[in-house]
Amino acid sequence: MQELFDQLDFVENPMYETVISDLMEKQYSIVEGFFTSYEVIALRSSLLEKFEEDAFKKAAIGNKVNEIIEKSVRGDFILWLNEKEANSAEITFFNRINDMVSYLNKTCFMGILFKEFHYALYPKGTFYKRHLDTFQNDDRRKLSMVCYLNEENWQPEYGGELVLYLNENGGEVAKTIYPFPGRMVIFESQILEHEVKPVEQKRMSITGWLKTR
Ligand code: OGA
Ligand code: MN
Repeated sequence: MQELFDQLDFVENPMYETVISDLMEKQYSIVEGFFTSYEVIALRSSLLEKFEEDAFKKAAIGNKVNEIIEKSVRGDFILWLNEKEANSAEITFFNRINDMVSYLNKTCFMGILFKEFHYALYPKGTFYKRHLDTFQNDDRRKLSMVCYLNEENWQPEYGGELVLYLNENGGEVAKTIYPFPGRMVIFESQILEHEVKPVEQKRMSITGWLKTR
């Protein structure tokens, strides 16, 4: 009887199903409107408020010697989100993420046990050189997720494109993705190298990882 209830409880979600089939087919997925424009506005306000409070730090600062090297690799500022101290915009964010994670675990046994997310702000002139999300930090990273929080009128000329380097028929293909607000990009952390092209305008996002084991 309980089994029957479990089955009845399961409602197929077309958006998540698209993400799953995209990931299987091409190792990335682009979801438009993962967050509504109101949710994007609330998250962007939260990001900017914390940035103005000086809560962000320069990404991937090691020691002083390291710092110079890092600046030539990435120029963004980040702030890690803390789910236990989330404000209302962030609660909405985590509810949506958690819902997707439980769907992935239930339907494809992905075994996602941990997650981590940070705000990111790229000032004009900054970039993030081509890299893989796993080698520096954490081989438990399974899926990378980037959600863009830019203004509604973001233009392609503003730069800051995410470029994914795909393997297609033995050759490399560069897939360019503009950081339009509300858009979520999900990709295989252990497989796809990628970069952020130099930005001409302040570029805002939440980036994170779903992790196994
Ligand atoms: C990263 C990253 C991509 C983006 O933070 O590791 O690759 O589009 N971000 O912001
Ligand atoms: Mn990355």
